[in-house]
Amino acid sequence: MTREICNDHILFVGFMGSGKTSVSRKLSAITGISLIDVDYRIEAIQHRKIPKIFEEEGEAGFRRIETETLAGIAFERRSIVSCGGGIVCNPENRPILKSLGTVVYLDVALDEAIGRISHPETRPLLSGVRPVEEIYSERIPWYREVADITIRSSNMSVYQVAQLCAHELQERGLI
Ligand code: S3P
Repeated sequence: MTREICNDHILFVGFMGSGKTSVSRKLSAITGISLIDVDYRIEAIQHRKIPKIFEEEGEAGFRRIETETLAGIAFERRSIVSCGGGIVCNPENRPILKSLGTVVYLDVALDEAIGRISHPETRPLLSGVRPVEEIYSERIPWYREVADITIRSSNMSVYQVAQLCAHELQERGLI
């Protein structure tokens, strides 16, 4: 059986704490477009929480699972897709992201992102060996590379960011 490929998803990328999960939920509620959260999907398929996957398989193992999960989204009906902050790290993922649809980058200052993270224990990289500033700076060019739309979400509420996304998508005839 051949499965149909969907290339008009709306995908959210951005650093941990940039608001991807909350904004994509809100945008899904505003537009009625279904929602996929890549991290929740990974946890559901793996029957393990993300910190456990990092503990048992390391970051490289997690990234392999993340790539498989992302690629599988091509076969889903049109959705709003909230991606984990590190999805851009694997160079293989960047063309996959672009092939899946419109990528929205939620650009937020690092101090604001850190301040918004309510459960740091669920983000293994925040307690890893690399300084978070280094991880953040390394990723910025990758977020920019994949982004079709960039929203600077600093000092805005989730609702305001979702409204702004809806406006940008409407202007492009995408919703
Ligand atoms: C990660 C971000 C997390 C999660 C995992 C790795 C990262 O998602 O995928 O802990 O590398 O930035 P959020 O961006 O939703 O926190």
